[in-house]
Amino acid sequence: MHEPVLLKEILEVLRPPREDGTLVDATVGLGGHSEALLREHPRLRLLAIDRDPAALEQSRERLRPFADRVTFARGRHEELIDILKQHGITEISGLLADLGVSSMQLDDAQRGFSFRHDAPLDMRMGSEGVSAADLVRTLEESDLARILRDYGEEPMAKRIARAIVEARSEAPIDTTARLAEVIRSVKRGRPHEIDPSTLTFQALRIATNEELVGLETFIDDAVSALEREARIAVISFHSLEDRIVKQAFRRLEGECTCPPGMPVCGCGAVAIVHVMTGRPVTASEEEIARNPRSRSAKLRVAEKL
Ligand SMILES: C[S@@+](CC[C@H](N)C(=O)[O-])C[C@H]1O[C@@H](n2cnc3c(N)ncnc32)[C@H](O)[C@@H]1O
Repeated sequence: MHEPVLLKEILEVLRPPREDGTLVDATVGLGGHSEALLREHPRLRLLAIDRDPAALEQSRERLRPFADRVTFARGRHEELIDILKQHGITEISGLLADLGVSSMQLDDAQRGFSFRHDAPLDMRMGSEGVSAADLVRTLEESDLARILRDYGEEPMAKRIARAIVEARSEAPIDTTARLAEVIRSVKRGRPHEIDPSTLTFQALRIATNEELVGLETFIDDAVSALEREARIAVISFHSLEDRIVKQAFRRLEGECTCPPGMPVCGCGAVAIVHVMTGRPVTASEEEIARNPRSRSAKLRVAEKL
């Protein structure tokens, strides 16, 4: 069974102020964190959210021994407030968001997340919205380049975007193998530590699933639902994602956001949380050796005042 990232750290920081409260796992995935939290807190209830029906199916199976304490909800965590309302929950005792893609999604060849398997270029976590193939087919060269640069930090973003536009005028780029071939044609002959397709695939996945859209609002909504002394823990895997979390926490901690030089603060900053992680918590060397995916994980935690 796949090991959840920063599990020991999550168990340490996500202690609910009430043992019989409700905790939200906003990205239940394969249910690894949820299982450990339910085991650790025998009276805790858990609301498990995921946008991916396949993830909900798998976690439902894994969490069967705790079925009387778990409620599952399919949706995007950006819809948190509506989901809480639908389930009659007014206050929560903690929330975890372990952002990004799960190993199950990456390993399922048919879903097109990975350049390691040839499959339709889909990459959608849910079944709604446009696919990666739609983006590759329709986006202007400059938009493709911006996505590859911003979401993938791909140093050859412009050249890959140009190669995609040229290649798609000859034949559609609708499989992972064809996209990987186009990327290789640009990067041929260059030394690489990682597969030449890694950064482009990551960028397209983030764009396809609009992974950064609504993250800040989600954090505001989650904090508004927390009871006093309850905590929010967010694990991110990408620097842009981590920056959004860091800035949202700072703002909620009451940091003034007025433009520099204002004689008097006009933004009305008020502290709602105490941020518990000045620097983000990262995985130990030992965890990274066991689970290489944890290398880029950054955990930030805040407590409601
Ligand atoms: C890294 S995995 C979570 C793994 C989980 N913590 C575990 O222990 O198995 C991330 C999960 O979040 C889901 N996800 C990503 N973005 C989401 C969003 N905006 N709303 C809800 N779920 C999302 C994905 O479908 C995926 O199943």
